[in-house]
Amino acid sequence: MSDSPTVQNAPDLTGGAVGGDGPTHVAIIMDGNGRWATQRGRPRSFGHKKGSEAVREAIEGAIRSGVSVLTLYAFSSENWNRPPSEVRDLMGLLRLYLRNEVAQLNKENIRLRVIGRRSQLDNDINVLIDEAEAKTSQNTRLTLVIALNYGARAELTDAAKALAAAVVEGRESLENITEDRFAQELSTADLPDPDLVIRTSGEQRLSNFLMWQCAYAELMFTDTLWPDFTKDDFADAVTLYKGRDRRFGKR
Ligand code: FPP
Repeated sequence: MSDSPTVQNAPDLTGGAVGGDGPTHVAIIMDGNGRWATQRGRPRSFGHKKGSEAVREAIEGAIRSGVSVLTLYAFSSENWNRPPSEVRDLMGLLRLYLRNEVAQLNKENIRLRVIGRRSQLDNDINVLIDEAEAKTSQNTRLTLVIALNYGARAELTDAAKALAAAVVEGRESLENITEDRFAQELSTADLPDPDLVIRTSGEQRLSNFLMWQCAYAELMFTDTLWPDFTKDDFADAVTLYKGRDRRFGKR
């Protein structure tokens, strides 16, 4: 987004007023690692490695902008359909991240959370996630949420099933099933909804990401490939967000 013509669906800010409140929760669909590598004649795994380094940029951008929650879409429930070697590479990077970065996150007062179906992940990754979440649970500067084996339809189906079971077993009454009650069954129950979703690499879709939670999120698309994304790009996105008129269905 430093090359500003790449930002789409964004208002022309040159003459517009900027200065609304910044976003509390920013969610990012980190896309374009493969193309970034291919453009350089390198394997896709190289793009993913560079992409994992760009995570640091997003974290610093979020902290500088006063964001409270940053959610990163690291592995979707559909990503299992990629070639096994690529899935292995991505899981390897997540392992490395959990092993090597948690101490630094903790030092920076960052809380780490993982959302997504844990049962399909290797046991050692689950252990690393449990340890990381426990170690950082009291941190307050930023909540970093990593969506791992996450799919919104799976999450919504799980929530519907849990509520249906509660009603059938008499633990919950049908009248109590409100939007708020439903949201309590989601993996994000204790988090505010995203205010801003950024997707890199020029694609313009949600790809099964936080579909309930993003009902009123502002969407921003940039041609920048994820490994090139910087904290300045993050700051630019926040500036554009402040120029948006959020109406939540009102006039
Ligand atoms: C999309 O690029 C990116 C992914 C499927 C994975 C995102 C993962 C990382 C950035 C690395 C690990 C993350 C953490 C939190 C340590 P793509 O492969 O779909 O790119 P393409 O569309 O150009 O092929």
